[in-house]
Amino acid sequence: MSLLSIKGLSVTFDTLQGPFKAIEGIDLEVRERDTLAIVGESGCGKSVLGHATMRLLDDIATVKGSVRYRDREVYAMAREELLAMRGKAISLVPQSPSTSFNPVIKIGKQITELIEKAGIARGKDAERRAIEYLGRVGFKDPQTIFDTYPHRMSGGMCERALIAMSTSTEPDLIIADEPTKGLDALSRKNILDMLHKMTAGSTLIMITHDFNAAATCDKIAVMYSGEIVETGPTRVVLEHPAHCYTRGLIEAQPSRGMKPIPGRHTIGSHKSDGCRFRPRCGSATDECGRHPPLREIEDYRLVRCHHA
Ligand SMILES: Nc1ncnc2c1ncn2[C@@H]1O[C@H](COP(=O)(O)OP(=O)(O)OP(=O)(O)O)[C@@H](O)[C@H]1O
Ligand SMILES: [Mg+2]
Repeated sequence: MSLLSIKGLSVTFDTLQGPFKAIEGIDLEVRERDTLAIVGESGCGKSVLGHATMRLLDDIATVKGSVRYRDREVYAMAREELLAMRGKAISLVPQSPSTSFNPVIKIGKQITELIEKAGIARGKDAERRAIEYLGRVGFKDPQTIFDTYPHRMSGGMCERALIAMSTSTEPDLIIADEPTKGLDALSRKNILDMLHKMTAGSTLIMITHDFNAAATCDKIAVMYSGEIVETGPTRVVLEHPAHCYTRGLIEAQPSRGMKPIPGRHTIGSHKSDGCRFRPRCGSATDECGRHPPLREIEDYRLVRCHHA
């Protein structure tokens, strides 16, 4: 059974320029202990998908479709059930660590509060647990970090502390949004190793631009312009990408010569009903004027392309 089952999920923001569709028709099945990377260009809707999964967009967006967590409809949960789910069952490691902590509250107090809110421990026990988790993510002197204000820490240290906070409630599912963004190569590797160590036995969704980070996950979903265009086992998708966009993204990686994908990533406004990647695709034909469905091309592999 799926731990998380997303069906036909769409998110529309009401903007001054009119309705803006950030994601559309997202279908995703995540099983227990899966590690899934979500990749795609900036603005394609990765963070919106992460937030919508936890129903964190509620009043600023119109959300349609279904998100089921352990067979419970997230968008039908009462407030208490929803709060209990967040943090305790599903935890989000947000995209920008330096703004995710409150700058005027010491790290330790912020982690302790989350542990208390999740009902895991109280008072001194909650503090001890916070210090224990700061130690687990590799801080040599966790007590000092516990007493430190976030603005005194580097980006890498903040990311580490955020991972300590997000895992301190032992959630079943962790959504880490760009955990390696802005870090140097060595810090990226350290954060990835540590994230996998801290989430071993749980389910991990890692949102990332970095294909080296994505390669550490068993499965991958590629997003383009608010839609999923390809999913499958990471190794197979990276070695034999079936969608032209996935091929383009791989070739745009620094390790593959940084060959840019021609054209511009258009988001939110789709004047035609065809394939959204069509204007940038070297293999487009008349058939691509028809919007392609996400279809199975092999076991566990889905692709949104008429030609795959
Ligand atoms: N509150 C909002 N109101 C209006 N538009 C929004 C809002 N939040 C996000 N968007 C838009 O939705 C689209 C998807 O945003 P999202 O943050 O999910 O992108 P992303 O794939 O995470 O990009 P990045 O890789 O840069 O983090 C973007 O065009 C963004 O501007
Ligand atoms: Mg994002």
